[in-house]
Amino acid sequence: MTSVRIKDLGGASMHAVDVGGFIAPYFMKEPEETKQIFDKVPDFKFKKDDLMLCSYPKAGSNWMYETLMRILTKTAEPIQGSKEDAMIEFQSAESVDKLLSPRIVNCHFPCRYLPLKDMKAKQIKTILCCRNPKDIAVSYFNHMKGVKSYEYDGKWSDWLPVYLQGKLEYGKYTDYLIEWEKEIKNGVGYPFHLMYYEDMKRNGTEEIEKLLKFLGVDIDNNLKNDILKQCGFDTMVKREMYPPAVKELYFKSDFRFLRKGQVGDWKNWFTVAQNEMFDDIWEKEMSGSSFSKFTYSMY
Ligand code: A3P
Repeated sequence: MTSVRIKDLGGASMHAVDVGGFIAPYFMKEPEETKQIFDKVPDFKFKKDDLMLCSYPKAGSNWMYETLMRILTKTAEPIQGSKEDAMIEFQSAESVDKLLSPRIVNCHFPCRYLPLKDMKAKQIKTILCCRNPKDIAVSYFNHMKGVKSYEYDGKWSDWLPVYLQGKLEYGKYTDYLIEWEKEIKNGVGYPFHLMYYEDMKRNGTEEIEKLLKFLGVDIDNNLKNDILKQCGFDTMVKREMYPPAVKELYFKSDFRFLRKGQVGDWKNWFTVAQNEMFDDIWEKEMSGSSFSKFTYSMY
């Protein structure tokens, strides 16, 4: 476990942690504490009524968390706590253990590091949330620029190639998806629901219906509509996800965690050449994959 600085093509660097070959975020914790938390992730013990929410970073996990927590608690009111409270690569198992049910345990780790054994043993309902890779890349770049702990101030054109080579935290999105694809093809062995950011944007009602069916939860139409409204991008922006002290500690002043919340913002960032490079890599690494096609534009 070592603290590392990864350079982009222009020489600007960002803080990360090397956990035996896997690059993880620097969570502003002592490396030894981070290592202890990481080592325990595969052995995490669930409560029977936990949900597991899996996603590659910037796929909309906070949005899904807010939606799912309201479904589980059957209320459209603001929820207690935050997704990070039950993020198992960030919090100690002891601290997650103390959370009251319902809990939405969540993790950005690749499939191989997840607590698959207990997910199977306890038949934990698991949701994988995916988003198109171009919008993820843009969102991730802005995240790394805006979150103080990265200490990063590079340029998009210098960041993108390094990100696509899988040199940054959590590795390549293509690897993440291919690992999940194998897990799904092998038969996951626990209740599993796959959802997409773009589908939530396009037809939130239908996606909530699917979630309700998967979770075996029944709520009336009024509550369904209220939840959709409370979890809409504009409402979430107005509500503010983090208290001022948390924002001050973790985020640069111009950073917005809820940045744009759109499908297709990548078009404002990618040059023609960057888009071609991206498509070439995607084609090479994902051809034949069931995750090869994403929605890149809504209109
Ligand atoms: P953008 O940076 O493209 O705006 P995560 O929660 O996994 O870190 O993902 C963050 C991304 O989800 C950000 O994307 C954020 O704006 C978007 N997001 C969060 N809540 C949303 C909502 N209610 N509707 C649409 N997008 C949302």
